[in-house]
Formats: sequence, structure tokens, C-alpha cells
Amino acid sequence: GFHIQLNSTGQRFLVTPSQTIAEVLLSAKVDIMLSCEQGVCGSCITDVIEGIPDHRDCVLTEEERAENTQITLCCSRSKSPVLVLDL
Ligand code: FES
Repeated sequence: GFHIQLNSTGQRFLVTPSQTIAEVLLSAKVDIMLSCEQGVCGSCITDVIEGIPDHRDCVLTEEERAENTQITLCCSRSKSPVLVLDL
């Protein structure tokens, strides 16, 4: 697993291997946009402040993935121990 951190409040949450980032945020009552939940629509794209996403979507372009400044919350994960999100 890995942790996500909300940039606004500094709150950190653990994302276990069986959870998605979106699930963890929803159960923490963080307001996020979701639609397809399969990495295709782009509704859940969120800016990354710090950390390296493990991109699992098919909506970001190769250039966007390489920049590591955005992530799809519904399916992507983290390569770094902590991912700070612009939330
Ligand atoms: Fe569609 Fe995440 S909800 S890409």
C-alpha cells in the first residue's frame, strides 16, 4: 500500500492493495468527481503536488503521464510511499 495526503489539510490516508484511491477518499468524505471508474472518461483527473503516480488509466496521454502532475483517482496508484494530491 501507500499513503495519499490532502494538500489542503495535510490529512493522510492509507490505500491498501485492495482499495482504490477514489474509494479511500470517498470513505473519508472527500468530495471527488467519478464517472466511469475504469480510467477512460477523465472525470476523476486530479493534480499531483508531490510523489510519483503509477498510471493505470487509458485517458492521459504519454506526455501527461511522463510529467507526473496528474492522476486518475479511480484506478491509478502510487510508485512513491506518499502521493500529495491537490485536494
Ligand atoms: Fe473515469 Fe476515473 S472516473 S477516469
